[in-house]
Amino acid sequence: MSQIIYLNGRFLPIEQAYVPVLDRGFIFGDGVYEVIPVYSKRAFRLREHLARLEHSLAGLRMENPRSPDEWEKLVEKLIRTNESEDQSIYLQVTRGPAPRDHAFPKHAVPTVFMMSNPLVTPSPAQVAQGVSAVSATDIRWDRCDIKAIALLPNVLLRQMAVDAGAAETILFRDGILTEGSASNIFAVENGVILAPPKDRHMLPGITYDVVLELAKTNGIPFEIGYFAEARIRNADELWITSSTREILAIVTLDSKPVGDGKPGPVFHRMYRLYQDYKNEVMRHG
Ligand code: PDD
Repeated sequence: MSQIIYLNGRFLPIEQAYVPVLDRGFIFGDGVYEVIPVYSKRAFRLREHLARLEHSLAGLRMENPRSPDEWEKLVEKLIRTNESEDQSIYLQVTRGPAPRDHAFPKHAVPTVFMMSNPLVTPSPAQVAQGVSAVSATDIRWDRCDIKAIALLPNVLLRQMAVDAGAAETILFRDGILTEGSASNIFAVENGVILAPPKDRHMLPGITYDVVLELAKTNGIPFEIGYFAEARIRNADELWITSSTREILAIVTLDSKPVGDGKPGPVFHRMYRLYQDYKNEVMRHG
């Protein structure tokens, strides 16, 4: 069966879905997106994802083309239309097609697109052994809190990791940790989780929030702040978090071991807490 997607009010096979070439998403990268994990056919933290979408749209000075209720119904229908129990929903809104001009068009109808793919989470080997990362200067703009589809810097930064055989590129702006090319980054120092603040230099991750909530409810100390590169390089543990990668330990950074070069004890604890939370909330209601 061909993949069924949602485009501008219709559910249709992906081969039949087209967007005009003058769509501002295509011409300017003028749009925003969300990636929502689905477990046992239930969207994880959907309200939070929709709230972040609202924030991103406001950043582009765009009206939300659907109400929260409409979004929820559309996402549910898309999930039902696709076979996998665990899915990854990709949702995108652009300012729509209009004659090419940088300034906002007076009368454009937003393009609304959603697709679902099977959710691929890290393999048991990746979870057990951890992954490697490289580092780079954060070359992105000043509104990384907007989940914009214009991802050229992120694409280039992620490719640096791939070229080095690594899983992620960790970014430093003016010598301070921001996040990864497509993930948030946590460090652990003497048993304390270190997390960058949700400012304009990072995407406020939904997984990031879950991790800090779990730390709070389970009495694991954490500190939110600006952390210098040297401190991150000397941390006992480093983690990646995102909707599709969940939580992964970074065991080497720029080919040097992080801590003792193995996923650390705080990672193991948080990974277990995350999986238990997910199973409780999603698999059993
Ligand atoms: N990216 N920071 C960046 C730059 C990201 O692209 C992502 C996620 C995150 C983590 O956010 P969350 O926990 O809400 O997934 C942080 C998605 C998965 C993507 O672009 O495919």
